[in-house]
Amino acid sequence: MAGKVRNLINITDLSVEEIEHLLEVADDIIANPEAYQDICAHKKLATLFFEPSTRTRLSFTAAMMELGGNVLGFSDANSSSAKKGESVSDTVIMAGCYADIIAMRHPKEGAPVVAAKKTTVPIINAGDGGHFHPTQTLTDLLTIHRKKGRLDNFTIGLCGDLMFGRTVHSLIEALLRHENIRFMLISPPELRLPEYMKEKMTAVGAEWKEFEKLEDAMPELDILYMTRVQKERFFNEEDYVRLKNSYVLDRAKLVPAKADMMIMHPLPRVNEISVEVDDDPRACYFYQALCGKYIRMALILYLLGMK
Ligand code: CP
Repeated sequence: MAGKVRNLINITDLSVEEIEHLLEVADDIIANPEAYQDICAHKKLATLFFEPSTRTRLSFTAAMMELGGNVLGFSDANSSSAKKGESVSDTVIMAGCYADIIAMRHPKEGAPVVAAKKTTVPIINAGDGGHFHPTQTLTDLLTIHRKKGRLDNFTIGLCGDLMFGRTVHSLIEALLRHENIRFMLISPPELRLPEYMKEKMTAVGAEWKEFEKLEDAMPELDILYMTRVQKERFFNEEDYVRLKNSYVLDRAKLVPAKADMMIMHPLPRVNEISVEVDDDPRACYFYQALCGKYIRMALILYLLGMK
């Protein structure tokens, strides 16, 4: 990639061909890690996390370290000058003075778009409110591709908080560009996928169906993508408490599932996957978190114009 600075705000900022390229680079990194260990020497990644994170921030950090680069930033807005009232724009201008590339998470939808207008270094959206989480989607796509060898022709069950789940929205956007994906949308009525997302699915002729009971969809699924009911997106505690344990996947519920069904979850989980499922060979969620490091290595290289 040469020329103008590229950002990653929404997964659709990348073409299908660019995503395929990133998956290939990630596969090569996994196969030949030593070839990449010094490639980003003297490069710096700023991680600006205005909202909590374990996987995304640590995997970005590990990714840059494994490429031989350095990382600076903050993991809590309260430890930055945001606490004193500094704007996101000014914070990002500062980070652009000190780093070659920025990964940013913010609770407000659209904050990374504002950030991208304020700096000339690439901005990666590491999650903006209930909006998008494109690097989680790249992680999910790499995981599916490595396990199934393809990104088309499967039935995926998306289960839990489909209303506010940014990982679900970004994953659907990405999968809609592939052939013959059937979407089984499993949620309580209050947390159904937003209408605009369903309209997008219908517009491209994708098959989708809504369910309230996980067991009604389970036998058909090639992939089950569980999500957390996100306390931080609710306006009142009462609704959260009523809905938080809507779905708890345990061994008994897996009895009717296909023998090769992938169980995915962007994590963190709270109660929605029982720990007894962790030993099931179909459980992919910790492998998925590992894939997050490799795809973020590939993305950093790509946005820096190095791969
Ligand atoms: N999947 C994910 O975004 O996890 P974190 O919130 O821990 O970064």
